[in-house]
Amino acid sequence: MTLQEFLARIAEVEERAVSLVAAASSMAELEAARNHLVGRKSGELSALIRDLPSLSAEDRRHAGAAANRVKASVESLLDSRGSALSATVPLVSGIDLTMPARRVWKGGKHPVTLVIEEIEEIFRELGFTIALGPEAETEWHNFTALNFPPDHPAMDMHDTLYLDETVLLRTHTSPVQIRTLQSFAPPIRILAPGNVYRRDFFDASHAPVFAQVEGLAVDEGVSFVDLKATLTNFAKRFFGATRTRFRPSFFPFTEPSAEMDVECALCKGSGCAACKNTGWSEILGSGMVHPSVLDASGVDSERYTGWAFGMGPGRIAMQRYGIPDIRILYDSDVRFLEQMAR
Ligand code: DAH
Repeated sequence: MTLQEFLARIAEVEERAVSLVAAASSMAELEAARNHLVGRKSGELSALIRDLPSLSAEDRRHAGAAANRVKASVESLLDSRGSALSATVPLVSGIDLTMPARRVWKGGKHPVTLVIEEIEEIFRELGFTIALGPEAETEWHNFTALNFPPDHPAMDMHDTLYLDETVLLRTHTSPVQIRTLQSFAPPIRILAPGNVYRRDFFDASHAPVFAQVEGLAVDEGVSFVDLKATLTNFAKRFFGATRTRFRPSFFPFTEPSAEMDVECALCKGSGCAACKNTGWSEILGSGMVHPSVLDASGVDSERYTGWAFGMGPGRIAMQRYGIPDIRILYDSDVRFLEQMAR
């Protein structure tokens, strides 16, 4: 064998080594490649080196140096492929596949939604059905039919968001009472959840959009006793054993009117920041449906009476979950929602 031939063959081995090592996809394949290339007995390179004595002394020096260089380079190829493979090996074999996977939070219902659903469930058992009305409402449904006098301050541009002369964003869910009374004959028992809009600052206790749940029951012989018994029962079901109280109030669409308070859930009545130190938290307005409201909706006010209420599920959620600032409910801060979601 001439020096030229030796160098050509050793270059071939080096070339083959590169593709062979790169193709090894496991430690076992890599070991096989190592054996094939530099294995002491059957390795191609070792076989070439054993042939060195057939060269002249002068050529042997060149050939030997070349063989050593190629051997070192093949070995370093094998080693670096080896460490790349061993870095990936634990992913396959070193992991305990029976271990539970890390849980991914998939989202949950907003606390106000949870409260609305719970309110719905309690009233559904009492025979109430769900009624919905439009958020863009006529001034007539939102105010006039509900017995607001034409100069009532609530109708002022400062409090109401008008879309045009006669259409506005409803300021409460009470117009659903009108739409229901116009479309269905008594007996009526409905619950109307939905968003309402007011021109308000956005501070700890006011938001320009918030949820309300309206209730309406109209039939022959319905009295304030029904109102008080139903709403007291609701508070007991929702808050557990809690004290309630009714305070006289005023709304244009009810007469008489009352607001219901529950004992503050946060301080159990001893007084705290959430209840402004009163020990009580107002959760709803209510009253006997004003005869003018029945008349405006085409219901015979001589024959039928009714009671109604409107509550704020946002405020109820704040009470229940001890949320000090209403803005937290609208921030969409995932850390808060994650804490609240069930
Ligand atoms: N609509 C009233 C408001 O937004 C709440 C209300 C009070 C609704 C008394 C009623 C009611 O149905 O009877 O402030």
